[in-house]
Amino acid sequence: MSIKFTKPYFSPDARKEILIEIEEILSSGQLMLGNNTNRFETSFADYIKTSKAVTTNSCTTALQISLMHYDVRGFEVLLPGASFITNISSVKWAGGIPVLVDIDPETLSFNLDDLKRKLTAKTKGIVWVHLTGLITPAWREIIAFAREHGLFLIEDCAHAHGASVDGIKAGSLGDVGCFSFYPTKVMTTGTGGIITTNDLALEKTARELRLFGREGGVGAVVREGNDWFMDEIRACLGYHQLKELDSALLRRREIAQYYKKKLTGIPGLSFLNIPKDNVPTWYLYTVFVAPDVDYKKLTKKLEENHGIPTKPIYLPLHQENIFRDFDNGTLSNSETTLNRSLCLPIHVEMDNYQVDQVVRALWTELLSMK
Ligand SMILES: Cc1ncc(COP(=O)(O)O)c(C=O)c1O
Repeated sequence: MSIKFTKPYFSPDARKEILIEIEEILSSGQLMLGNNTNRFETSFADYIKTSKAVTTNSCTTALQISLMHYDVRGFEVLLPGASFITNISSVKWAGGIPVLVDIDPETLSFNLDDLKRKLTAKTKGIVWVHLTGLITPAWREIIAFAREHGLFLIEDCAHAHGASVDGIKAGSLGDVGCFSFYPTKVMTTGTGGIITTNDLALEKTARELRLFGREGGVGAVVREGNDWFMDEIRACLGYHQLKELDSALLRRREIAQYYKKKLTGIPGLSFLNIPKDNVPTWYLYTVFVAPDVDYKKLTKKLEENHGIPTKPIYLPLHQENIFRDFDNGTLSNSETTLNRSLCLPIHVEMDNYQVDQVVRALWTELLSMK
C-alpha cells in the first residue's frame, strides 16, 4: 500500500458524535454563528490562552482581517521570504506593501539582522510565520523588536496549532494569531481559520469584517466587509478536532522522534536542532538535502522506486512567477533552505512500519547516489 504524504484524522468516537451533531444542526435550521461556533471559539481561546477567538473561513481571510484592522494602507509589512503565497497577497489586498525578509536556515524564521535592516519609517508591522510548526528559539528577540519599534505582530500559525515555547502557545505570543484549518493541517474543518487575540478592538473588527462589515456582526454596515465567517458544521468539526489535538500532536512527535533516530547518520541529510523547551507541531517533518545530492533525482527515485511522496516546504515567495517583483536581492538563505528542504510523509495514522519504509528508501537511494 502506498504511503500518503498527509491525511486528516477523525477518531471513530469523534465521527459518531459529529454525525449526531450535524443531524442536530440540520434539523435546527441554524447553519451559521450559533452554539457550535460559540463552543469552538471559546474552547480554542481557552486552549491557546487568549481571551478571544473569532472563526473565519480561512487563515488567509484571518490574516487579511488582522491587516485591515491595523490599517496597513500605504505602509510596509515585514514577512519572511520562506512562507506561503497568501502572506504576500493578504498584505496587498489590505493595501499594504509586502517586504520580504531573509530567513535563518537553523530556525526557518526571520534572520534577525535582515529583519532589523529592512525596518524603515514606513514599516507598520510584522507577519511572523511559525514555518513547519516550529516557533523560532529567537522568539523573545522578535517580540522585543516589534515592541521597541511600535510594530504590530501578527503570528501566522497555519502550521502551529498547539506549538509552544517555554509553555507559551503559538497564537498568544504576538498581538494576534491566525490559524488555518485547511485539510492538510494538524487539525482541520474541511477548510477554515481562526483569529486568537487579547485585543478587544481587533475582536470587534474581526466579527464585523467577517460578516459584511455589520456593526457587532448584525447591525448597520460600518465597514466594507465580506462573507468570511465559518458555518456551524465546520465549527462542529473544529471543536471535535480540537478535543483530539493533543493526542494527534503526541503521535506526530513520536513519528518525528522515530524518523530522527532512524535517519541520523545517513550521508547527505541534515536536521533542524530543536531546543528542549520548544514543542513543534511537526506539521511537516523536514530534512535538508546536501548541495552535492541531486535533489530532483532523489525525489523522483523515492516516488518511482518506492511510492514515497515528498515535497519541499514551499517555493521561495520571490521565485513564484507572479511575485518576482518582491525579489530584493537579499533572500539567499530562503532560496537555499527551501530548495534543499525535503518534507517526508507524516500523519496520525502512519505507523512505524511505514516510517521504516520511508527510512529504508532514503538510505537506499542516497547511498546509491554517492
Ligand atoms: C504559512 C501559511 N499561511 C497561510 C496559509 C493559508 O491558509 P488557508 O488555506 O487557511 O487560507 C497557509 C496554507 O497552507 C500557510 O501554509
